[in-house]
Amino acid sequence: MAAKYDVYKCEECGNIVKVLNFGGGTLVCCGQDMVKMDEKTADSTTEKHVPLIEKVEGGFNVTVGSTLHPMLENHWIQWIELIVDGKRLFQELKPGDEPKVQFCYSCGDPETVTAREYCNLHGLWRGEL
Ligand SMILES: [Fe+2]
Repeated sequence: MAAKYDVYKCEECGNIVKVLNFGGGTLVCCGQDMVKMDEKTADSTTEKHVPLIEKVEGGFNVTVGSTLHPMLENHWIQWIELIVDGKRLFQELKPGDEPKVQFCYSCGDPETVTAREYCNLHGLWRGEL
């Protein structure tokens, strides 16, 4: 069952949606159920996917991977989302960009800071500060 902010993908056409309000129905695209993208938190090979969060003056830097993730035409990080005490900041990326984003945030010391990123080949990943 879908929940708020879950990410779903159509395996047929590649559409990706984020649930903003769950009404109880089934998400369907191209005539088939969309697939929920589970948030992975550990990359057992080279740690190229787990987003790393660093608090810096005026905000947070998010870098994808302790080993930087590739940003190639056929394999790249499509977006990074930072969630600070429930506030969501979102940045799209494209091939050739660096797999890192600086998010400005100046609303005091947050209690929870989480980042999610989406790799076009390896799916959804989550990291915490
Ligand atoms: Fe990847």
